[in-house]
Amino acid sequence: MLIRVEDLSFRYSRAKDYSLKNINLKVRKGEFLGILGASGSGKSTLCLTFNGIIPHSIKGEFRGDVYVKGYNTKETSVAKLSTIVGLVLQNPDSQLFNMTVEEEVAFGLENLGLDPEEIRRRMKWALRITGLEGLENEFPPNLSGGQKQRLAIASVLAMKPEILVLDEPTSQLDPLGKEQVLSLVTLLNKEQGITIILVEHNTEYLLSFADRVIVLDKGEIILEGKPKQVFEEVDVLVRLGIRVPASVRIAHEFKKRGILEKAALNEKELINRLKTLIKI
Ligand SMILES: Nc1ncnc2c1ncn2[C@@H]1O[C@H](COP(=O)(O)OP(=O)(O)O)[C@@H](O)[C@H]1O
Ligand SMILES: [Mg+2]
Repeated sequence: MLIRVEDLSFRYSRAKDYSLKNINLKVRKGEFLGILGASGSGKSTLCLTFNGIIPHSIKGEFRGDVYVKGYNTKETSVAKLSTIVGLVLQNPDSQLFNMTVEEEVAFGLENLGLDPEEIRRRMKWALRITGLEGLENEFPPNLSGGQKQRLAIASVLAMKPEILVLDEPTSQLDPLGKEQVLSLVTLLNKEQGITIILVEHNTEYLLSFADRVIVLDKGEIILEGKPKQVFEEVDVLVRLGIRVPASVRIAHEFKKRGILEKAALNEKELINRLKTLIKI
C-alpha cells in the first residue's frame, strides 16, 4: 500500500467541529482514486494530510496516522514527503511565481540539489509530457488557464513523485482547459503509472476513468467502491448535492421503472443498452 490512513480525525485549531472524522483509507500503487463530496465535506483537508502540510504547517488536533510509502507523516518532513506526493491545487496562479515556464519547472529541482544535467533532463521530460514544449521562455501569467494548470503539474512532476494529489484542478478552467488537464491526468496514470488522487466535480470523468471513488460527507467517508458501485447510489449522491452524470440520471429513471437493471452507466453504455432494448 502506498498510502494508509488509519483512524484519522482532524480538527483545525480554531474550529469547533472535526473536519475529518475517523477516516480509514488505503491507496494502492498505480491506483486512480476519485474523491467526491459537497463543499465543506473535508476533501481539501484530506488532501493536505497526504503530504504532511497537515499536521506540520497547519495545526490542529490530529488523531490517528497517515503512512505514505511506510513513512508516518507525523514523523516525516513536508520536504521529504513532497518528493513522494506532489500536490496540485485549484488555482494555478497561486502556484506559479517564476518569470519563465522553464524557471518554474526548474525551481523545485534546484532546491533538491540535483546536478544541472539531471535538472535539464527532468525539465524536458515534464514539459514534453504536459504538452508545453516550445513554451519554455513564456511568461507564465500569459499562458491560458489550461496551460497554467499543466505548468503547475509539470513543476510537481519534475520532482518525480509517485503520487499526484490534485484538488479540483479543473474548477477554474474553461472547457478546453478542463479537457486538457483531465486527459493529462489519465495519461499520467495509465502510461506513467503514477498513483492519482483526484478531487473532481466532473463525475462523468470519474465514472469512466477512476478505479475507485470515495464520497465524503461532513468529514466522514460515507460511500466507497468502484465507480460502478458508488454511482449506483443515485439517491444518496443527489441528497448530498453531488452532480450525477446525465447518463446515470437517465438510466436511474429507467431502473426505477424496471426497464434497466443498472443506473451506473456512462453515455456510451447507456446508448448501447437502449439500442439493444429498442431492437427487442
Ligand atoms: N483553515 C481552516 N480553519 C478552520 N476550519 C477550516 C479551515 N479550512 C477548512 N475548514 C473547515 O473544514 C471543513 C472542511 O473543509 P474543506 O476540507 O475545505 O472542504 P472541501 O474541500 O470538501 O470543500 C469545513 O467545515 C471548513 O469550514
Ligand atoms: Mg476543497
